[in-house]
Amino acid sequence: MSVENTQAKCPVVEFDYLQGGCPVNSGFERMTELAKLGPVVEAESHHGLPGFLIATNTESLTEAFQDPQRFSSHSVIAIEPDPEYLMIPVQLDPPIHSAWRKNLAPFFTPARVREYEEGIRARCIALIDAIEGKDTVDFTEEFAVPFPNYVFMEILGLPEEKFDQFMVWENTIMHATTENDPDRSRARQAMVEVATYFGEVIASRRADPSLRSNDLISAALEWAIDGEPAKDEDLQNLCMFLFIAGLDTVAAQLAAIFHHLASHPENRSRIIDDPEIIPHAIEEMLRAFPNVATARKVVADTEFAGIQVKAGQMILLPTSAAGRDPNVFDNPDVVDFDRDVIRHLTFGAGAHRCVGSHLARLELKVALEEWHKRFPQYSLEEPDAITEHGGGAQTGIDKLRLTLAK
Ligand code: HEM
Repeated sequence: MSVENTQAKCPVVEFDYLQGGCPVNSGFERMTELAKLGPVVEAESHHGLPGFLIATNTESLTEAFQDPQRFSSHSVIAIEPDPEYLMIPVQLDPPIHSAWRKNLAPFFTPARVREYEEGIRARCIALIDAIEGKDTVDFTEEFAVPFPNYVFMEILGLPEEKFDQFMVWENTIMHATTENDPDRSRARQAMVEVATYFGEVIASRRADPSLRSNDLISAALEWAIDGEPAKDEDLQNLCMFLFIAGLDTVAAQLAAIFHHLASHPENRSRIIDDPEIIPHAIEEMLRAFPNVATARKVVADTEFAGIQVKAGQMILLPTSAAGRDPNVFDNPDVVDFDRDVIRHLTFGAGAHRCVGSHLARLELKVALEEWHKRFPQYSLEEPDAITEHGGGAQTGIDKLRLTLAK
């Protein structure tokens, strides 16, 4: 599988960043195999895409996450070292990053997130009501994707009548496949349309203060960044990133969790019998099913995890390598709700650690509580037909259909 690369002094591997149609959870097995080769491996150029390094354990991931002076966020997509876009705040390095983060963080504190709970629960129950009475459900389409979409639109103060349009954009962008969008032109067009829409919302609220309310976009119009008013173009980039960061992550996490619970009734009955364990069970399932793989760009030639790396090289940071790290967790592939301390890197680490982590945890908690009140018994409709998209950036189950017991 690997040969020694004498220059980088780390194993070189084949790694398909855009891999699709793989068996569920095979991405975790692949990462476990890579970790056996060393704390960092080199993925050679594949299908014409640039090569990159991959951090494969908690230690090497943490080293990259914690040191923005050596490992820049200028690009967070391993195969795009010189992006033409700017996702705010995730692609900003200090000190400008802190200015954005200071403004954004108050919208996502535990206290602020608790204020959203009632609305989030009502949305969740409405989606469940619509599923009631069915024998089978497309969990992805009917629950996992629309649920965070509603929450996102509410926090940004976007009108309800735009919901269906957002669902179309979300599906076109996030679920493009070689069959439905071979050159990704539909996904790119949808990105342009979302960006244009955000641009229009920002411009109209800027022009007419009566359109402003208690939401994130309205507040952001007043933000100062480094003593200067935030520019509309930057606010548009912020909205675009929140759209990318807040929707598919939660949807993918929900699908992974419900896939596990559908196929592990012993864990599901613990949740049904004792809903108090849900927050702890969520931490364990966040550890076991991380789906984000971000990246960093090496600023100057340096040593990383014991090997020499060069300025400009990209390092893929798959958070699954930490969640499944056998040096940190006993039996990492086993989901064990009785595990004591669960310190995972599923939300990243360091300055860019997920600002939406409290919101994400609340969405998962409400979903698990409300779903199991209504549908305690369910199973996978066609277990062998379920696939995942692997590779980089964001992994996840393609489509999850569940059979609901009466
Ligand atoms: C289970 C769901 C989620 C997971 C697994 C997740 C994971 C992550 C990870 C790993 C990062 C670090 C990226 C990096 O260092 O390059 C991150 C950053 C971020 N996430 Fe999340 N996220 C989730 C949900 C959310 C939600 C619901 C929001 C809110 C809308 C959100 C907003 C953000 C933002 C704004 C950042 C950038 C923070 C910064 O650059 O300072 N995320 N997320």
